Amino acid sequence: MTELKRRTFVQRAAVLSVLACLPPAVVARIISQTPPTSPFNADSTAEEVTAGLDLAGRTYAITGANSGLGLETMRVLAMRGAHVIGIARTIEKAEQACASVEGQTTPAFLDLADFESVVNCASMIRAMNIPLDGLVCNAGIMALPERELVAGMEKQFVVNHLGHFILINQLMETVMAAPQGRFVILSSRAHRRAPDDGIQFEDLAFQNQEYSSWGAYGHSKLANALCSLELARRLSGTSTTSNSVHPGVINTNLGRHMPWYMRWGGKLLGWAFMKSIEEGAATQTYVATSPGLVGVNGYYFVDCNPDPGDTPHMQDEAMARRLWQLSEELTRDYLPDKVIIPA
Ligand SMILES: NC(=O)c1ccc[n+]([C@@H]2O[C@H](COP(=O)([O-])OP(=O)(O)OC[C@H]3O[C@@H](n4cnc5c(N)ncnc54)[C@H](OP(=O)(O)O)[C@@H]3O)[C@@H](O)[C@H]2O)c1
Repeated sequence: MTELKRRTFVQRAAVLSVLACLPPAVVARIISQTPPTSPFNADSTAEEVTAGLDLAGRTYAITGANSGLGLETMRVLAMRGAHVIGIARTIEKAEQACASVEGQTTPAFLDLADFESVVNCASMIRAMNIPLDGLVCNAGIMALPERELVAGMEKQFVVNHLGHFILINQLMETVMAAPQGRFVILSSRAHRRAPDDGIQFEDLAFQNQEYSSWGAYGHSKLANALCSLELARRLSGTSTTSNSVHPGVINTNLGRHMPWYMRWGGKLLGWAFMKSIEEGAATQTYVATSPGLVGVNGYYFVDCNPDPGDTPHMQDEAMARRLWQLSEELTRDYLPDKVIIPA
């Protein structure tokens, strides 16, 4: 054991023995206020952050499981013994992805731009009657070159945020049924490219301003982080948690809408400044599984550690609450009738 690892071990053992003497509610509050610094960093891989973990008996669902970070996250979770529900845009893609990894997987499908299909996917998962230890909201699209609208709203906001908002609410009870269920929501450092005043409550179609592909992507990723922040607030006092994640910059299919010279630049020079897919999947896998993160709720993680975010909007609880309320209004027909977590 290196000197650093020995010191970390002794410190954690001391903290754990103190916590073991306290009532669980107090422990949850203390832990949620002081997320531990992890020994992992930008170079850690999903395999490394789960080394030694036995996830047998746990079930995770992940969207975008057929590509990039989602596929790697599914591979590593299943490799550690978890049952993974791999959700893709079509059943064929989901089946192919699930068949490509070793371990127990179940294919499922939805199109996040088609809210009825999100409800159907959640029904299928609920019908399995298994608590979900984690829902990783990973699927996404980036930097659509032209403004595209779905139901009158900018498409990245719909796919990246609203579709997942419905899935989260539809699976709320299923995640809360696990001993320590976790919502892990993929945000991005690109949240800083959102409009200066944050969520465009009065202009979700981006029609009263010049359309910017990165601005609209950043807007949707700010929405992902704020959705997690408000979800965490609503979950406080329960054993369930929600955290958001920036995975790093990784060369995946996400760049498919970028100009050809940027895609080639990434392929040729990406090794110098980008993470590998194995490294890119580490933070979400760590946040979904780390035993050290029990009760850690409402944080934004970068490189496997909590981060304040690059703009004050990331901590804006009023904006988060307003976004949640608006999202409820926009998707009311697709939400469960029963209120599961009060406002
Ligand atoms: N890569 C990065 O540098 C980076 C940086 C910051 C944040 N992120 C975030 O990380 C997440 C994963 O990205 P990635 O890099 O792994 O990208 P990716 O390889 O392109 O994977 C994205 C996944 O989302 C799915 N998807 C797209 N539109 C969908 C829809 N309407 N309904 C259902 N699924 C849909 C894709 O399905 P298809 O294959 O069928 O299109 C694919 O499985 C995203 O949320 C992204 O914003 C990535």
